This record gives sequence, C-alpha cells and structure tokens, in this order.
Amino acid sequence: MKIVLGPASKQLGEKVAELLNAETVPVAFKNFPDGESYVRLEGKVKNEEAVIIQTTSPPQDTRLIQLALIADAAKRNKAKKVTAVVPYLAHARQDKAFLQGEAISIQAIARMLKAAGINDLITVNVHQEKVLMEFSFPAKTVSAIPLLAEYFKKKGFEKAFALAPDKGAMHIVEEAKTVLGGECGYLEKHRDRYTGQVSVERKTFDAKGKTVIIFDDIISTGGTIVAAAKVLKELQAEKMYAACVHPLLIGDAEKRIIEAGVKEIVGTDSVESHVSKVSLAPLISKTLKERKSG
Ligand code: R5P
Repeated sequence: MKIVLGPASKQLGEKVAELLNAETVPVAFKNFPDGESYVRLEGKVKNEEAVIIQTTSPPQDTRLIQLALIADAAKRNKAKKVTAVVPYLAHARQDKAFLQGEAISIQAIARMLKAAGINDLITVNVHQEKVLMEFSFPAKTVSAIPLLAEYFKKKGFEKAFALAPDKGAMHIVEEAKTVLGGECGYLEKHRDRYTGQVSVERKTFDAKGKTVIIFDDIISTGGTIVAAAKVLKELQAEKMYAACVHPLLIGDAEKRIIEAGVKEIVGTDSVESHVSKVSLAPLISKTLKERKSG
C-alpha cells in the first residue's frame, strides 16, 4: 500500500503513512493560468494499492477534480487498486432534490469518482450514511466523534452534557455520551431552504449550571451553533463548547460563535485550520489496517 498525498490533506496523509509505516507518493500540482487543475504523481504505484488522501473542503470543486485526476494518474500508472480517503465528502448534503429542478449532487459526484478509476472510498462522518448507497463501489464512513469526546474528557469535562443541534445529530451525541459518561439531548432545528437562515426551538432538558458541548458533523457558516448557543444561554448553561468533525468555518463563523458565548471550537484535521486540535490519522490508519487484514 502506498499513501498518495493529495494536495488538500498532505499533512494528514503524512501522519497516516507514518502510523502505517507505508511509503508516501507526493503529488505535484498547480493551476494553469486559466484555472484548470494539473497533477503529477512523483512516485511509483505500479502493482500497489494507491491510497489517495484528499479532503474536499473548500475549494470543493477544485479538490474533487484534483482527486479525480490523481485517481486517473494512479490507474494509468498501473496501481492494482485505487482507494480514496476523503475525510470531508463535498456535496453529500445535496442527497435529494429538495426543490424542483435541483440536481442530486452526490449522485453525480459518485459517478464521476467511479469513472476516474476509484475502487473504494472511506470518508468520515458523512452527513447521512445513506448517501453512500449512491456509490457503485464499496464506500464506508467512520466516526471521529469518540476522538472529539476524548479531547474534552482529557480536558476534565467528564459528564459534560452533549447537545445535538438537531434531531438528525442525535446519533452523534449518543456516541459522545458513551465517552463522556454524562447526559445528551437535542434541539429542533429548521433551515429556510431559500435564505439558509437557521432557527432552533428549545427542548425540554435541563442545561442550567451545566457544561454543554454542542456536537455537529459540520460547522459551515456557524448559524447552527450560534442558534443553539442562544437557546443554551436562555436555559442558563454554565459553559458552552462546540465540537465538529469538519470545521469549514466559512467567513466570520468563528467570530460569531465565540461572540455567542462559546468558549472553544474544536475540530479535526479533516479540514486543516487552527481549530483542528484532533487528528484523524489514528482513525484512518486503523480503518485501513483493519480493512487490509479483513
Ligand atoms: C446540517 O444539518 C449539518 O449537520 C450542520 O448542522 C450544518 O451543515 C451546519 O451549517 P452552518 O454552520 O452553516 O449552520
């Protein structure tokens, strides 16, 4: 197995390779003056499984094209199998046509990745697991929530309340609860499909005087966390933290979240940023190892 270092996840790829004691294949990349992507493998993959590590956080579409081009290069350089590790799988939230005339983006992406030569895909906390059924080759998701919960446990936040900003994230806080050993609950969220505006309804749980960690798969504009923090303030929570797997943190999201009273934002290196305090490398290397032996 060789670890191909996708430009979007070079550091993560190096860490995974180190844990697996696997050779790395660097990728030279650039944009042509007109904006088109170019990649070149700077190592051999012949008769090897090429494991490409490349997240597809913004600029999503460029990174997806880079991934497809790297897969194509691996295939034509005679890799015996091409596996894509895509921690943040872009377009996964558009898994149906919510409004008439829309595309089902993840279906189109799945077909594109297959056509590029990818045989196997591993992602992390994909928004909804059912989207993986759109892939005509093996695709699985693994969860980084226990790693995020461990981070808070090590900080001494055992028994903290794990809050899901919507019912769909309830499975996430149930996972966190098994590590933290406290309670968990959820809020009722509504997003206006035209404006993107988020509103959150308070639920009946007791947050008064408690340390609450809001867990979500993605923080994008921060609207969800800000709305949840507002409710938590009304419920007189003592301290609020936010944890997510994919810290996209678009625009002034971080500032808005901190201004809403959240003490710290913790994310993973699915998306490299200064809030990426938890690495996915142990989870990804374990997944690759187990799959190898399985
Ligand atoms: C959607 O349901 C996701 O789980 C996240 O809650 C959402 O993507 C966060 O987006 P934003 O930060 O823009 O509210």
